[in-house]
Amino acid sequence: MKHFTSVNDIQDLNELLLLAKQIKSAPYENKTLGENKTIGLLFFNPSLRTRLSTQKAATNLGMNTIVMNLNNDGWNLEFEDGAIMNGNKAEHIKEAAQVVSQYCDIIAIRSFPTLTDKVQDEEEQVINSFKKYASVPVISLEGATEHPLQAVADILTISEFKTKKRPKVVLTWAPHPKALPHAVPNSFVKMMQLSDVDFVITHPKGYELNPEITNKSKIIHDQEEAFKDADFIYAKNWSNYNDYGQITSQDTSWTVTSEKMQLTNNAKFMHCLPVRRNQIVTDAVLDGENSIVIDQANNRTFATQAILTQILENHG
Ligand code: CP
Repeated sequence: MKHFTSVNDIQDLNELLLLAKQIKSAPYENKTLGENKTIGLLFFNPSLRTRLSTQKAATNLGMNTIVMNLNNDGWNLEFEDGAIMNGNKAEHIKEAAQVVSQYCDIIAIRSFPTLTDKVQDEEEQVINSFKKYASVPVISLEGATEHPLQAVADILTISEFKTKKRPKVVLTWAPHPKALPHAVPNSFVKMMQLSDVDFVITHPKGYELNPEITNKSKIIHDQEEAFKDADFIYAKNWSNYNDYGQITSQDTSWTVTSEKMQLTNNAKFMHCLPVRRNQIVTDAVLDGENSIVIDQANNRTFATQAILTQILENHG
């Protein structure tokens, strides 16, 4: 693995999970691997978990971390080739990516979609431009279309909590007042397709994700039907993909409630966080004993540490 910007970059999921579990049991065992190495964490958008867990994972490996909020503190970047830079963009990505590569051994980037321009978002312009011009490995801290580090933490959590070889996992859309990206559900769907699970997606009609991603997965529009016998309920909002970036439903009958959880096989409740209480999920479910959202967030560190370990071992 050189770059890690998609679930597709995982070469052997079982090997990665074994490594993440080994790291979790002894997180400081490989302190010399990252000695004298630096990771640059570049944020175009806010973060709590991704920022802190990546810093922690890098520190556990002995790496130095540099964090920069590019939107507030950096020069406005130009991404177009051949642009006449007489506007408000002061620096071209060609120089920026090469310069950051002089200071960092790994570059990690968070860059959300516009949710107004589907073509531009699907090109993953920011992350792909860094991949093109940087001379060091690039990691996605959540791009326009994928959040692969989250998906590794998700499958690590499912593998720890499952009580049968092939659990039923349900990804359910739930209402939210803001237009949210598709990155988390896209990566989760890809990860479930790689895993030995009985996977079902449920969402209101019209809220289909990118069919090129979901085409191998079962979709049920009746949420209660989908919840039957589930072992894991993974709730997430996403904005409309066809009517790109729009909120076409805020139907609170899709909120995850205790009554709906009773239809399941005593399912664990998962969400990537941050979560809107009593919109996505009720307090009773989120605070209940089957909620594993904190375990899931904790696993962000070990998932990321496993990815950093593989990259450092390959490109150290
Ligand atoms: N789940 C997740 O990526 O959280 P942050 O946006 O806080 O990093």
